[in-house]
Amino acid sequence: MKLAFIGTGYVGLVSGVMLSHLGHDVTCIDLVQEKINQLKQNLSPIYEHSLEKYIEKCATAHKLHFNCGYDKKLADQDAVFITVGTPPKSDGHADLSYVYAALDQLLEFISENCVIVLKSTVPPGTSRQMQEYIAKKGRGNKVASNPEFLREGSAVYDFLNPERIVIGAGSDLAFTCMRAIYKRFDDQGVPIVETDFTTSEMIKYASNTFLANKIAFINEMADLCEKMGANVKELSHAIGLDSRIGAAFLKAGPGFGGSCFPKDILALQALTKQVGSQSLILDAIIEANSKRPGVIIEKIEKIVGTLAGKLVAVYGLTYKAGTDDLRSSPAIELIAKLKAKGAQIQAYDPMGNENAAAVLAPEEICADAYLATEGADFAICATEWPEFKDLDFGRIYNNLNQPVLIDLRNFLDHKKVENAGISCYVVGLNLSKSD
Ligand code: UGA
Repeated sequence: MKLAFIGTGYVGLVSGVMLSHLGHDVTCIDLVQEKINQLKQNLSPIYEHSLEKYIEKCATAHKLHFNCGYDKKLADQDAVFITVGTPPKSDGHADLSYVYAALDQLLEFISENCVIVLKSTVPPGTSRQMQEYIAKKGRGNKVASNPEFLREGSAVYDFLNPERIVIGAGSDLAFTCMRAIYKRFDDQGVPIVETDFTTSEMIKYASNTFLANKIAFINEMADLCEKMGANVKELSHAIGLDSRIGAAFLKAGPGFGGSCFPKDILALQALTKQVGSQSLILDAIIEANSKRPGVIIEKIEKIVGTLAGKLVAVYGLTYKAGTDDLRSSPAIELIAKLKAKGAQIQAYDPMGNENAAAVLAPEEICADAYLATEGADFAICATEWPEFKDLDFGRIYNNLNQPVLIDLRNFLDHKKVENAGISCYVVGLNLSKSD
């Protein structure tokens, strides 16, 4: 089938490239010429594990094309996916202006049979309104809602191993088109959930909110474990063995970040209030996560004393491992709070250093983890990059003024750190040395 993707961000680029890998003829469109130039050289403008390999394979097979802007090449597409950003407005509501701008543009070129697939995360009701908008313009194009569940960092894997595909539509044409696009997964027995527009959109928000809820909950348990002398890692493991709870998303840490959870929960909260429904749980998740950096700073102060005048080595800047994305990163929020307390920063991230240039001063960004600890008073590990596990902690011990490492992700080999003479502290264990 011939498919086009409008917007080559994390969602559009991965989905477009991978649908091309599954055999479709895909054109990825963006308005930023620089991104398209990069993509035409088989270079990805975002870091996503193994994505460039698939870009090169599909482009070489002439199954993947890149285009700057909209033109008559859209005329013979079977479906066009809208995958542009829906950033939060100041009132928390999702800004749909990019979605509608894309829609207006593509309507000028697509045929009447082309299905318009809304893949950007949009508030419940948007696809239905879009269908009405198209009809008012005198066009017969059908809309489908098709939320995505890919995680940054493992998006290629997630795409190839979906646990479900959700399709919301109001017409046989749209359902048939979507089933054909995802036929490979349908044949493999992947559940395809077919529903109405609004339920499809609600599923996306409810999924992200439920996952964020698990994280907010385990972070609260982690704080309690610290006070009670219990171990949150063992607690997570044990409660996760109950299939009604499930093991995923029970890692305590510095709070959830990224471009999705914080934005989506705010949008759902705004919508809930707008329609006069109660948002008690949403409110609590938002409040718990927004207070998380403050809780972590208090924890750090209990360990190292006053932060004023201290030089802090920070390992990890991205909102999680496996990405170069710094959006709503807990590490960046912590750095801002550390600085507000009078501390100075030397930070290193395996993938995020380049993007960090927009938020940190050049002297705050170090080329490796050892340089970040040179002359530092103590170190914090804010992102769970696997390579931090293999650091030479003896070297780090020599670099630090105060041999203290605070593992906010509770993922390092704490015995290894302590054997190097460094006191290792973690989230969710009593504030003494971890055993
Ligand atoms: C999330 C969802 O997991 C995807 O299914 C969804 O498609 C995506 O949002 C989206 O809406 O586009 P993502 O933001 O890439 O994916 O990252 P996650 O792996 O879900 O992590 C989100 C945040 O939660 C990170 O800051 C991570 O460190 C934190 N987290 C995650 C924890 O603190 N503990 C956990 O146990 C898991």
